[in-house]
Amino acid sequence: ELKDNTIVIVLGASGDLAKKKTYPALFGLFSQRLLPRDVKIVGYARTKMDTEEYHKRITSYIKNPNDTPEMKQQIEDFKALSTYVSGAYDKDEPFEELNAHLESIEAKYQTKERNRLFYLALPPSVFIPVTEKLKKNCYVIRGGVNRIIIEKPFGKDTDSCRELITAVKENWTEDETFRIDHYLGKEMVKNLLVLRFANVSMGAAWDKNHISNVQITFKEPFGTEGRGGYFDEFGIIRDILQNHLLQVLSVLTMERPVSFSAEDIRDEKVTSGYPTISGVKVLRAIPPVERHDTLLGQYVAANGRPGYLDDETVPRGSVCPTFTAATLWINNPRWEGVPFILKAGKALNEAKVEIRIQFKDVTQGIFKDISRNELVIRIQPSEAVYLKLNAKTPGLYTRAVPVDMDLTYKRRFGEVHIPEAYEALILDAIKGDHSNFVRDDELDVAWKIFTPILHWIEGHSGPRPKPVQYPYGSRGPAELDSFVQKYGFRRSTEA
Ligand code: BG6
Repeated sequence: ELKDNTIVIVLGASGDLAKKKTYPALFGLFSQRLLPRDVKIVGYARTKMDTEEYHKRITSYIKNPNDTPEMKQQIEDFKALSTYVSGAYDKDEPFEELNAHLESIEAKYQTKERNRLFYLALPPSVFIPVTEKLKKNCYVIRGGVNRIIIEKPFGKDTDSCRELITAVKENWTEDETFRIDHYLGKEMVKNLLVLRFANVSMGAAWDKNHISNVQITFKEPFGTEGRGGYFDEFGIIRDILQNHLLQVLSVLTMERPVSFSAEDIRDEKVTSGYPTISGVKVLRAIPPVERHDTLLGQYVAANGRPGYLDDETVPRGSVCPTFTAATLWINNPRWEGVPFILKAGKALNEAKVEIRIQFKDVTQGIFKDISRNELVIRIQPSEAVYLKLNAKTPGLYTRAVPVDMDLTYKRRFGEVHIPEAYEALILDAIKGDHSNFVRDDELDVAWKIFTPILHWIEGHSGPRPKPVQYPYGSRGPAELDSFVQKYGFRRSTEA
């Protein structure tokens, strides 16, 4: 339900996340008329600036503004509902001022109901004080709902994540808290539920008897580029694998939810198994990643682009991996023995995120050297699902060749607007729908899977392992091909 009289408060309004994701998504929703009537947007950050300067900034955050009169008008209307308050993150006074500002907006509402959505686009260091200050100074006690949206990093390992969750819970209930993993807002990740559970043919082949191996791959064609300070402290595992790719994995492997309700879906992600053995949990069934199941890499200068260590914001001599392949195993009857290879890297040859499910060999005998079936779900760019099958070449003799059954979205559905992940998620939070947000127990289990390997990489138990090098703009470390082959992946003969 979309509530009227809603104010969205963006804390960290001058930061990177607000600029790249939050404001573009808010504007996207606004221009599609999807925000509640009377919505107002209030930015809050340390930077002192007047309304004019703030409006100039948020206009510059909006992507691809074209010059049509309609667009110009929309930008003007968006500016008209956006205001700004500056202040520190660790003192009560500026939050009292923020509250007074919110009340002055609300005084003009026709009904008494006041709804506030606080979006924390903030660095981890100020995270906890802000959740306290907001509760103390800006919480509507009667006649409305208060919600907070928070984003990773949720700590750095199991213990620090628990501390963070506990600290936030002192002031905000689970119902009021929306933890974003924006991969859950992506169209093709949502499509997994439909593909799997609305198709008998897919569901029937979805287990260890039919699937040989699964790869979930994240590739980015750029390096840290000034974000080296943050990145080096967290590394690629915390940046991508432990959250985004693991969430994709859980939706891919969970059992059929009882319904599309938030709790039913999230129960299956942490609470799953084979229908006959209820209560085995899909994320809980994954043991911590082992050292021998990982491949760590770091990019070096090539193709005229700087190496990781050439980035001035990166500490000298850092051995932080910018690429990781990690194979996970699910110890439940459906998936036992199937390797799930998660791969993520910066400064690679292309931008691509995809799931590649490779099926087992067909019974040999009548066919030789035949390609395996593969189901590829391309999350981005250019959303697509395609199934590699074998078909007979037309003619008088029988020869099988690999062919694609191709469901490229643009071709199949035309130029429909595919919502940005952040648009979908902010709208869900305004409506109070938790289905695509991360529950506290999911976080805990996700950290347990990666904490030991992270501690090893960070030298808690001895010397830090050295990542192998790969050139900027390459496919990743040269060792990657043999790594995936070790888990049974076979390049299709079509290649
Ligand atoms: C963020 C990471 O969570 O996801 C970034 O911190 C990464 O390093 C980004 O670039 C990728 O998101 P998307 O939606 O562009 O795939």
